[in-house]
Amino acid sequence: MHDWYKKGKDFLVYIGNAGCGKTWFCQAMFTFMRMSHPSLSRRYWNEIDLFDRIRSDAATYYSRQAIHSLVDDHFLILDDVGSNYMMKGNEETFFHIIDKRYSSRLPTIVTTNLDKEDFKIAYGERTASRVFSDENIILIVKGHDFRQNKK
Ligand SMILES: Nc1ncnc2c1ncn2[C@@H]1O[C@H](COP(=O)(O)OP(=O)(O)OP(=O)(O)O)[C@@H](O)[C@H]1O
Ligand SMILES: [Mg+2]
Repeated sequence: MHDWYKKGKDFLVYIGNAGCGKTWFCQAMFTFMRMSHPSLSRRYWNEIDLFDRIRSDAATYYSRQAIHSLVDDHFLILDDVGSNYMMKGNEETFFHIIDKRYSSRLPTIVTTNLDKEDFKIAYGERTASRVFSDENIILIVKGHDFRQNKK
């Protein structure tokens, strides 16, 4: 994680069970990015919100360019990827997003409940191949569910 931030490019893929702290981590990283690199733009998307936004934009103006403009910040955080993958028809859009981030090599965090195989099933081989590319850092966490320990 530290290595990834120091490197300043490519993907950090955080795979973890529900409640292990992925969203918590994203929020902490977002704040950290703002403090350590205030001049670099950053954006945080929950996957569901991102697709909602793309759909609402699509009503008026839809293009690959429009999608890219939602994900062209220096730092990008995509939280909860695949949690709504039952919603068919997003694979193509998601591919454009990942391809854009992958080819620019800008620092991108992806969090998901899906392992590599399920990710491939959900989003297709071309997307998975970029997300799990060798230069990326893959963090697999099998932590306890913080939500179950609350009093
Ligand atoms: N390191 C931590 N220290 C204290 N509390 C934490 C920590 N990480 C997470 N939590 C708390 O645990 C709960 C679950 O964490 P979080 O929402 O980040 O999980 P998640 O991995 O995003 O789960 P999901 O896959 O369901 O989205 C939250 O209430 C969060 O505030
Ligand atoms: Mg979450």
